Amino acid sequence: MRLDRFLSESTEMTRSLSKRALLRGEVEVNGEREKKAARHLAADDRVTWNGERLALVGLRYVMLHKPEGVECTARRGLYPRAVELIELPKVERLQTVGRLDVETTGLLLLSDDGQWSHRVTSPRRGSAKVYRATLARPLEGGEAERAVAAFAEGILLEGDNAPTRPAELEMLDSLEARLTVHEGRYHQVRRMFAAIGNHVEALHRESVGPLVLDADLAPGEWRELTADEIAAF
Ligand code: URA
Repeated sequence: MRLDRFLSESTEMTRSLSKRALLRGEVEVNGEREKKAARHLAADDRVTWNGERLALVGLRYVMLHKPEGVECTARRGLYPRAVELIELPKVERLQTVGRLDVETTGLLLLSDDGQWSHRVTSPRRGSAKVYRATLARPLEGGEAERAVAAFAEGILLEGDNAPTRPAELEMLDSLEARLTVHEGRYHQVRRMFAAIGNHVEALHRESVGPLVLDADLAPGEWRELTADEIAAF
């Protein structure tokens, strides 16, 4: 890897700021001042910037307890972005693994490993996503059983051309539902309840595949995934 690229990947400097740092004589390779941006580094070369040893950032895997009022977009918009809650170097490289609506809370994964993110969200894999939904209107009488059957069968949502995949609905009480879906359509859970004449007041994601939201994380808190959690996908 070229030295200027290494600098821009291991620090907050852009490529052109890295070149300036080189010209100012702030960078040493194996203890010797180096000014050439195009120098190719060997795997065991030691690079320091103002005396600080640098290393490549590597791939990161994060779970965030997403609070309400936070967006899953890469571009700045109306709301704070999920990535802004994470304190890691080069944080803008992280992308959300799938999305949650602004109002939805719960488990949100972020990573800069595109292949891993693809495995997590792959429709072929159909990983289970478990949501807890608070409904506006109680499901009473036979309504709950009819909803369970309709979701298990799959329902055609407005604007879609194929029914949803079979989903498992468990009513915890007449207003609280746990819904497990195996795909990730736009506003899927809210649209499924709208399709049976109800409305989701609050939505929280508990898990994605084998990854469960860490109970120690308060809304807005995050932690890096363990090696076992990463390998689970
Ligand atoms: N389904 C929704 O409707 N919203 C979400 O944020 C996630 C799933």
